[in-house]
Amino acid sequence: MKAIYNFSAGPSVLPQEALRAAAEAATNFNQTGMSLMTMSHRSKPVMDMFAETEELIRELLAVPSNFKVLFLGGGASMQFCMAPMNLLPQNAVADYTDTGAWGSKALQEAKMFGQVNVACSSKTDNYSYIPKDLQQSKDSVYLHLTSNNTIFGTQWKELPTPINPEAYQVIDASSDIFSYELDWSRIGMVYAGAQKNAGPAGVTLVIIREDIVGKSGREIPTILDYATHIKGASMYNTPPVFSVYVMNETLKWLKSLGGIKAMQAINERKAAKLYAEIDANPLFKGTAAKEDRSLMNVPFILNPEKVSAEQKESAEKSFLAFCKDRGLETLAGHRVVGGFRASIYNAMPEAGIDALVQAMKDFKI
Ligand SMILES: Cc1ncc(COP(=O)(O)O)c(C=O)c1O
Repeated sequence: MKAIYNFSAGPSVLPQEALRAAAEAATNFNQTGMSLMTMSHRSKPVMDMFAETEELIRELLAVPSNFKVLFLGGGASMQFCMAPMNLLPQNAVADYTDTGAWGSKALQEAKMFGQVNVACSSKTDNYSYIPKDLQQSKDSVYLHLTSNNTIFGTQWKELPTPINPEAYQVIDASSDIFSYELDWSRIGMVYAGAQKNAGPAGVTLVIIREDIVGKSGREIPTILDYATHIKGASMYNTPPVFSVYVMNETLKWLKSLGGIKAMQAINERKAAKLYAEIDANPLFKGTAAKEDRSLMNVPFILNPEKVSAEQKESAEKSFLAFCKDRGLETLAGHRVVGGFRASIYNAMPEAGIDALVQAMKDFKI
């Protein structure tokens, strides 16, 4: 079979090892003779698998013991409302950083539950950079951050901390979790839809400091209350068992490579190769501010100095077709940025980057 490299922003490339394990578990999970999809979440093999997955997460991310690890449904989008519903009392204020479409959605949801202070925004520049100057409120409960902006290809190189010493960070790490070590000293909660760096869609990882739960002063529907899921060990309702299993295998693969530090070095090398070609090749141009460039999502366009407005659409189509012919898939950019986007998450092999760089070198208009 010809090698295919899938540059999709999410759901995204997964390690072959995890996919092969998933294929086996679909019919015979851990030599039980049963498909994992048919097994009770309360059966011993499944409970053991959940415990092992939590252990892997704790080990890889060095999660402190006063944090709970939850496997929830509803996607990262559900956390946009669940976080403020649980954490933000009605008359209190939370700081939000408007660094992309997802952060913007998160802050809109939070307005339903309390006061929102937009601490910074790069919206007027189509979110092409990360504003460094934050106007935080001194009494905010938390500072919400999107660590990596999947659509615009920007990433915080250092996550800002709240100015209120009592406040904590709430981080949407959907598109870069497990790609660098987290500093837990100011974190209250980290959440991530799994379907980019951690597994398939269906499970959302929430890592939350236990003492911040139960302080909103409002009644919360049972299923949306973090306390419910802490008490039920993520099994208050039927959890997405198969997705958690693929996450488990993805994390085992990450551990076998040497863990997050080793992965980070590989990701830095991969991204550097691709950005070097974008900067050197006169046909292409990056869209994100250089100092904020993401190691996970790399948006680029055809250089308007080389490709006229009339040529653009057909030239874009022919580059995508040229790439597809070489097994380089899903490179079309998000509609709000245009051009192309190469998502090069943990599981994208370096050979995929090399193949894309070669295609960029070989492509002629
Ligand atoms: C940074 C970020 N946050 C949130 C989401 C939404 O995730 P979900 O589709 O799991 O709700 C995405 C999806 O692409 C994302 O990239």
